[in-house]
Amino acid sequence: MKFTVAIDGPAAAGKGTISTAVAAHFGFAHLDTGLLYRAVGRKTLLGHDAVMAAKTLAATDLQETDLRTPEVAQAASKIAVLAEVRTALVDFQRNFAARDGGAVLDGRDIGTVICSDANVKLFVTASAEVRAERRYLELREKGHDVSRETVLADVKARDERDSQREAAPLKPAEDAIMIDTSDMSIDDAVKTAIEMVQTRLKPSNRT
Ligand code: C5P
Repeated sequence: MKFTVAIDGPAAAGKGTISTAVAAHFGFAHLDTGLLYRAVGRKTLLGHDAVMAAKTLAATDLQETDLRTPEVAQAASKIAVLAEVRTALVDFQRNFAARDGGAVLDGRDIGTVICSDANVKLFVTASAEVRAERRYLELREKGHDVSRETVLADVKARDERDSQREAAPLKPAEDAIMIDTSDMSIDDAVKTAIEMVQTRLKPSNRT
């Protein structure tokens, strides 16, 4: 069975948690596509050329332990504006989506570009302040010495770059279902997402 769930949205909106939970619930495979961009961004911080890094990206690059740092996040959003970098990463993502048994991909352009024919498209969002607070707590828990102000500024800078770029900007697909998690517990957001996927899985709703 091929069944693709596309989950897009800005940084720290809850996409990762929702995607992991949806994949686990339905037994689908999950690809966090942000990791691809982070792996390329990380390489540029080490002096590599972004396009070359994207073209030669290996599975082991996705396992580096420092991909979740704020520095790598900013580097990722800088190389993500490059059309050539994005093109180099398309096949990997589409092949993943086409696997048997169902797949959840989360990112910024899954519903609009990578899997524009996905069976379910969700756009998970929340206010910049709520997202920054979540990211701040997450980073502090991991031992990063960051301030609330810096994290909010970082989130806003990434939002701006991701949504204003020419190549595959961050925006909801026309047929995406919006989930605003600003005033929602993560459990409720996960429940909502699972219900939406469940509805589309019903044979009468399959196209
Ligand atoms: O989702 P995550 O925060 O890990 O993504 C890091 C950066 O990678 C984003 O800020 C965005 O610039 C880029 N990205 C993208 N398209 C995707 C996934 C991530 O441009 N599908």
